[in-house]
Amino acid sequence: MTQTTQETSFWHCQAHMPTVKRRQVVFDRGEGCYLWDTDGNRYLDVPASLWYANVGHGRAEIADAVAAQIRKLESYSSFGSYTTTPTLALAERLADLVPIDGAKIFLTSGGSDGIDVAAKLARRYWSAVGRPDKKAVVSRDLAYHGLHAFGTSITGLEFNREGLGRLIPETMTVPTHDTAALAALFEAEGSRIAAFFCEPVLGTGGVIPPAPGYLAEVQRLCRAHDVLFVVDEVITGFGRTGAMFATGLFGLEPDLIVMAKGITSGYLPLGAVAVSPRVAAPFWADDSPLLFRQGLTYAGHATACVAAHANLDILEREGLVDRVASLGRHLAAAVAPLADHPLVTDVRAGVGLLAGIQVRDAEVADKVARLCFDRGYVMRVITNATLQISPPFTVEEHEIDGIVTTIAEALDA
Ligand SMILES: Cc1ncc(COP(=O)(O)O)c(C=O)c1O
Repeated sequence: MTQTTQETSFWHCQAHMPTVKRRQVVFDRGEGCYLWDTDGNRYLDVPASLWYANVGHGRAEIADAVAAQIRKLESYSSFGSYTTTPTLALAERLADLVPIDGAKIFLTSGGSDGIDVAAKLARRYWSAVGRPDKKAVVSRDLAYHGLHAFGTSITGLEFNREGLGRLIPETMTVPTHDTAALAALFEAEGSRIAAFFCEPVLGTGGVIPPAPGYLAEVQRLCRAHDVLFVVDEVITGFGRTGAMFATGLFGLEPDLIVMAKGITSGYLPLGAVAVSPRVAAPFWADDSPLLFRQGLTYAGHATACVAAHANLDILEREGLVDRVASLGRHLAAAVAPLADHPLVTDVRAGVGLLAGIQVRDAEVADKVARLCFDRGYVMRVITNATLQISPPFTVEEHEIDGIVTTIAEALDA
């Protein structure tokens, strides 16, 4: 913890600046699951930063690949017919990896960009096939889809809209896991609904796995009402659930999949949207006059794509996705006894290397997080006083046990 008398100029994300402006936690170095602050203190990275440090910190092979690409060609735009070799290769690799046959890949600079692309493409698709009234985008209470304008409009976390209102009209949320409410909405408004967005496991909303059968029923309703089914795999993609994609784990066939974070394990910013052949068709048919008017300067940035390749090589070579499946079982068993603690109101785990420990209130959660931090564990508190556990895929079982023991001791304290 760096404490100074001088106020920082850096405006932190999602931060209460009067609290943070003289008390910043400044990390300086990382290796595997561990981080060191500027005073040399070591911490275990329990949330893997923002759910993304999947292959762990300090991977020299990613650094080397990135440095080599920058020397060769840092990047070039992918506007019009231009692009670069690593960008093309990554699109092919992702098209093979995602559980959508014949997917086309639109690259972005991160998750919120991906959500914007998916939402715009959903609207544009329906106008292209002669149904321009289908504009509304539906999401769920507790959903988090990033904080660009679309993400801010469709989040089910109202506090992210404080003082803003809904930036984009024709967006709405339904209660989480309530298929009857979704069916009723589609019945009444289906002719003007373009897409339904959902995280397979709600992340920032509190690590909430899907109710049994929920996702399959949502998919059925989307098909029945001509609503595009968009799966936000920004957290779950690239192994977090113990499968390469949660879409595959739950047997889904979405129209669009949004990815980011684990695509590079955070070594460089990158995101992607996998587009099903049906949605791509109006823009890819040989005789089509249409183009999708979307483009980001850093979409498919060559060096970021190289980082993604090196990251995916590590995931594959070290068998990290299978490792997550087995570590996930260990994590679920390890956190289960915390449910008996009087300050714990819910323990959610069981899908990969993800767990949420919900405690009595935000004050308890903050105190527990601070005590854990003092004992060398970086913790993050998310919605509804929930402690987020989502360590790098290289974590060891004894380190998971250490996280749980430290939380238990902090709760007792
Ligand atoms: C499910 C989900 N979607 C989208 C986003 C936004 O991604 P980014 O912060 O890279 O813009 C996040 C970020 O945490 C996320 O968890």
